Amino acid sequence: MPSNSSVNPPHVEILPDKAALIERSLAVVLSVINDAIAERDRCTLALAGGSTPKPLYEALVQQDLPWQKLYIFWGDERYVPIDHPDSNAGMAKTAWLDQVPIPPEQIFPMPTDSADPEAAAQQYEQTLKTVFPDAAETVPQLDLILLGMGDDGHTASLFPHTDALNVRDRLITVGNKDGQPRITFTLPLINRARSVLFLTAGANKQQALSQVFAADADAAMYPSRLIRPEGELWWLLDEAAGAALQL
Ligand code: 6PG
Repeated sequence: MPSNSSVNPPHVEILPDKAALIERSLAVVLSVINDAIAERDRCTLALAGGSTPKPLYEALVQQDLPWQKLYIFWGDERYVPIDHPDSNAGMAKTAWLDQVPIPPEQIFPMPTDSADPEAAAQQYEQTLKTVFPDAAETVPQLDLILLGMGDDGHTASLFPHTDALNVRDRLITVGNKDGQPRITFTLPLINRARSVLFLTAGANKQQALSQVFAADADAAMYPSRLIRPEGELWWLLDEAAGAALQL
C-alpha cells in the first residue's frame, strides 16, 4: 500500500472463498452499523455497485437492525434508469432495500434522469448537504463506504487516467467509463469516511491488486491506491484475488 503516515494501516484479510468473504464482510458491516448507531444514533452508509456485494446485500435482509436509523447512499452509479439491469441502485433495492423497512426518505439513489450528468452530480451533492448539515464547513463524514475494485484497479467510478481522479473541490462528480458517464463520489468524500470496506473477489483482480498494494505504482493507473480514508480501511479478499499478494 502507498505509504501515508497520516492514515491508519489497512486491515487486510484473505478469506478462503467468496462465501467466506461475504460472511466476513457481513460481520464487519454489522459491527460498523451498530457502533455508528450506538455513538451517533444513526448510520450513514454508501453502497458499492457491481456484482461482488450482491450476496452481502441479500444477507442483510435477514439481519435484525434498527432500520429506521440507516441512511443509504451509493458511491457511484451508471447513468441508466433505476429499473435498468445495470443500475447499482436497482440491484441493491431488489437484493435488500425493498425487503426491509428503512424509511424511503432515508434512501438516496443517485439521480440519472437528467439529460445532463453534471446537473445530476450537483443535485446529489446538494442531497448530501441536506443529510449532513455541517457539510458547509467540512466534507461530510459517512460512517461506512463499501467499495469494489475493477480488474483495472478502478473503484467507485474513478477510472484510470480520468478527470474524476483530480476533483478535490467537490463531493460528487461525473465519472467516465469508455465514454459512458457515471456519477461518483470524489476522493475527498471517500477519504473522509470513518470506515471504507473493499470487497474484492476473483483471480481477475490479482494483477491490479498487486499494483494497488505495491510500495510504488502509478496511482492514476490504479486509482484504488488513492483510497486512504481518515478512518479505518478494510480490504476483504478471497484467495483467488489475494493469492499473489505478499502481505
Ligand atoms: C460499478 C462499481 C464498480 C465496481 C467494480 C467491481 O458501478 O461497477 O461501483 O466500482 O465495484 O467494477 O465490480 P465487481 O464487483 O462486479 O467485480
